[in-house]
Amino acid sequence: MITISIDGQELKAKEGQTILEIARENGIYIPTLCYHENLSPYGACRLCCVEIFKGGRSRIVASCLYPVEEGLEVKTNSPHIINNRKMIMELLLARCSQNEVIKKLASEMGVEQSAFKAKYLENEDCILCGLCVRACEQIVERSAISLVNRGVNREVAPPFLEPSADCIGCGSCAYVCPTGAIKMEDKDGTRVVYARNWEKEFKLKKCKKCGNYWAPEEQLEYIREKLNLPPDFFDVCPNCRESVP
Ligand code: SF4
Ligand code: FES
Repeated sequence: MITISIDGQELKAKEGQTILEIARENGIYIPTLCYHENLSPYGACRLCCVEIFKGGRSRIVASCLYPVEEGLEVKTNSPHIINNRKMIMELLLARCSQNEVIKKLASEMGVEQSAFKAKYLENEDCILCGLCVRACEQIVERSAISLVNRGVNREVAPPFLEPSADCIGCGSCAYVCPTGAIKMEDKDGTRVVYARNWEKEFKLKKCKKCGNYWAPEEQLEYIREKLNLPPDFFDVCPNCRESVP
């Protein structure tokens, strides 16, 4: 065990943990947009920045990436950090000026408008946090979407902006997206997963017992093959399966 201090509180931590993990374990709020506890940290949004003090010097680091070390002193809300976060929020607001999540977070930090003028699309919702890409790769193990292009043209997309054969319609990307840039809708036996620049439609499986449409056929087939389940395993939905005596 090692001891660090966050905002004056002495805290115990395990080797290899990050500042953000220790802060969360101890109820200390650090804003984040690109972090998820079940995915590898990526350091994209920089909103989780904190000030660390070592050897008489201070510097700003991304708390989701920085591993704790004995005697580390951390400040999560110093004037330096507050200004830094405000600037990051202004940049995000310049990119996604109409997005409600970004507008709300900015407002909570006292940022109502951005001094930056960005050449982005008018209704941009994506902050390029990469959560969707990591969820698809690390949890679903499909890599159906990725971050492509450079500079202002950087975006999340399936290969060649075509509906990807690797996408099974599970919607993990939509669940994990912090800004709602990826959406998912189920209607009349069909699921559509879509973003500003791509979409894919899926046929939903109908439960043989209750008649409800409950999951994309492609997703169920992927799970069935992966777990070596019998061909008729997903003929009934989980609710009906549970109710079978
Ligand atoms: S689509 Fe959503 S999850 Fe994916 S990079 Fe953009 S904001 Fe992040
Ligand atoms: S949460 Fe750490 S950089 Fe985004």
